[in-house]
Amino acid sequence: MSFHPEIPYATAFHKSERKLSPEGEPFAFTPEQRQKFEELASHYPPEQRKSTILYALFMVQDRIGYISAAGMRHVAEVIGCTDADVEDVATYYAMFYKQPVGKYVVQVCRTLSCALKGAERVTEAIANHLHVAPGGTDASKTFTLLEVECLGACDRAPVVMVNDGWHECLKPEDAVTLLETIKAKGESALSGCVHAVEGK
Ligand code: FES
Repeated sequence: MSFHPEIPYATAFHKSERKLSPEGEPFAFTPEQRQKFEELASHYPPEQRKSTILYALFMVQDRIGYISAAGMRHVAEVIGCTDADVEDVATYYAMFYKQPVGKYVVQVCRTLSCALKGAERVTEAIANHLHVAPGGTDASKTFTLLEVECLGACDRAPVVMVNDGWHECLKPEDAVTLLETIKAKGESALSGCVHAVEGK
């Protein structure tokens, strides 16, 4: 008799939907990046070089816009750890993109406060306007739409983050206006945190 009875959900459990990052172009830090990286790494004891994985991954993303498999391998090589160590970190944090993204990443919070205040309608308005589903990038590669968990401004729900800019209390119709403004004005439309005034 087996001590391992058949588990009905075992098949589904083993069918992982985890997607590996695309290989991407061959990747290596530029001499300037490498120097900057080594300067930071010099603040850690040599046996704790792995503590620099986050920093190194940000450097990859700053350079190519996402974390490619080639980028992860280079980070592992530079740090002297395994590819799996780097992949563990890259896949744990939501701020690392595992696929190429558009110039502007539109992140709509879908956690409770935002959900109760209509975040789903905001996502829907953006998705319809861009003709993409959440997780997708529009045809012009300008916008990527993502649904994310709490962005930490629950009292100003629903919250949308575009690159590093915040937009709070965003109504669906204002979300579309925001996209159009970004298209017209570029980066300058993102400056700072945009609060909607209560009642307006
Ligand atoms: S629930 Fe949306 S910011 Fe916290």
